[in-house]
Amino acid sequence: MSKTTFTTHHGMTDLLPGDIEQWQALESLIHETARRYHFQEIRTPVMEQTELIARGVGQLTDIVSKEMFTFDRGEDHYVLRPEGTAPVARAYVQNHLAQRGGTQRLYYIGPFFRAERPQKGRQRQFHQFGAELIGSSSAIADVEIIAFMTAIYRQIGIKNTTLKLNSVGDPATRDAYRKALHDYFRPLADKLSEISLNRLDVNPMRILDSKEDQDQPLKAAAPRITDYLSEKSREHFDAVKELLDRLDIPYEMDPFLVRGLDYYTETAFELVSPDIGSQDALGGGGRYDLLIEEVGGPPTPAVGFACGIERLMIACEALGITLAHPSGPDIYFVTRGEEAARWALEKMPELRNSGLVCTMDYAGRSLKAQMKDANRQQARFAVIIGEQELQENLFTLRDMVKSEEYQVTSDDIAGRVLS
Ligand code: HAM
Repeated sequence: MSKTTFTTHHGMTDLLPGDIEQWQALESLIHETARRYHFQEIRTPVMEQTELIARGVGQLTDIVSKEMFTFDRGEDHYVLRPEGTAPVARAYVQNHLAQRGGTQRLYYIGPFFRAERPQKGRQRQFHQFGAELIGSSSAIADVEIIAFMTAIYRQIGIKNTTLKLNSVGDPATRDAYRKALHDYFRPLADKLSEISLNRLDVNPMRILDSKEDQDQPLKAAAPRITDYLSEKSREHFDAVKELLDRLDIPYEMDPFLVRGLDYYTETAFELVSPDIGSQDALGGGGRYDLLIEEVGGPPTPAVGFACGIERLMIACEALGITLAHPSGPDIYFVTRGEEAARWALEKMPELRNSGLVCTMDYAGRSLKAQMKDANRQQARFAVIIGEQELQENLFTLRDMVKSEEYQVTSDDIAGRVLS
């Protein structure tokens, strides 16, 4: 009889012991860094109203037009969140966070979903950490956000990164620029790739995102948005660059960095790495001064970033960086017989209360198999318990690292292991 087996969906993976320790260590580092930057955590549901994402991220983006996981239940239209900024903007408005006064400095870690074609560094369920600084239009806020993002990579030791920087200006800038791009690309239409040709009339700025070879020479000579910035946008951008210099955060100007989400205004940035393959963006972000109003709030400037955790892990692997090693138990109880196993089960809570990591054999295996298991699990100590040991209250405590043995009473186990 053949058995039915099940697998995860394409582009979705299990995170297993052996790898999860890296994730846990990274999460601790993010929480600790956020604490020092004085950002507070926000957790929003993994599902949002489809209309929020369509409006927030933009109908014409790849994310909304092609990559959303959606379903309907009755009157309600659900989407698995493809990103975190529109949900945080929604939460800010819905929970009247503006009334708490000052700027809101929020960060998040969690799963996100995009129905993209999976490849290395690109999954359908992936994880991001990100931060949003809401309520300030100052260039200081932009630079604080970039500093927070880069601090994570610096602490981990991922150094070979480039911060790409651009300004997409205000809406008037973008209108003028879109027109300039259209005027430039239209006569070149027959030389453009099919993807770019499709974008020409709908959203010519997206042509700048093209990775197609035949588009590259055409792109290189295209007008640059930085030549179209209003005076205010230029001043803001100059201030951002000056502050990055003051903080010694290196950057590279990329006049064609447009980002794949429509809510951006002014500063846009991406952190890229040569070590993680063709999906080379570790993270990205920028200013989104109109989004909160777009989702029903008062006009509120904001800036943020988000980074892919899978891609960070790929970088760690490529660079040989280990964030944490799986650790074994302090004590493994090796038991002979049912009575000994019960005794161990009863003893472990007391030891655990004093901070020790304890485990035992849960399957009634032979002494030899248990010793092997203790070794495999990298236990620091094994305590061997049989009928005689229980009667005499004298146990063998084996130091698995030094291969030494001591005779101890029940009450001495903790002290000896902790010493
Ligand atoms: P994003 O550029 O779409 O921006 O995503 C940020 C990062 O998430 C990417 O640089 C990448 O590392 C990771 N990522 C995105 N899609 C995938 C995927 N399919 N598989 C693996 N990793 C992926 C945002 O999401 C904006 N919300 C960032 C932001 C925050 N802007 C302002 N505030």
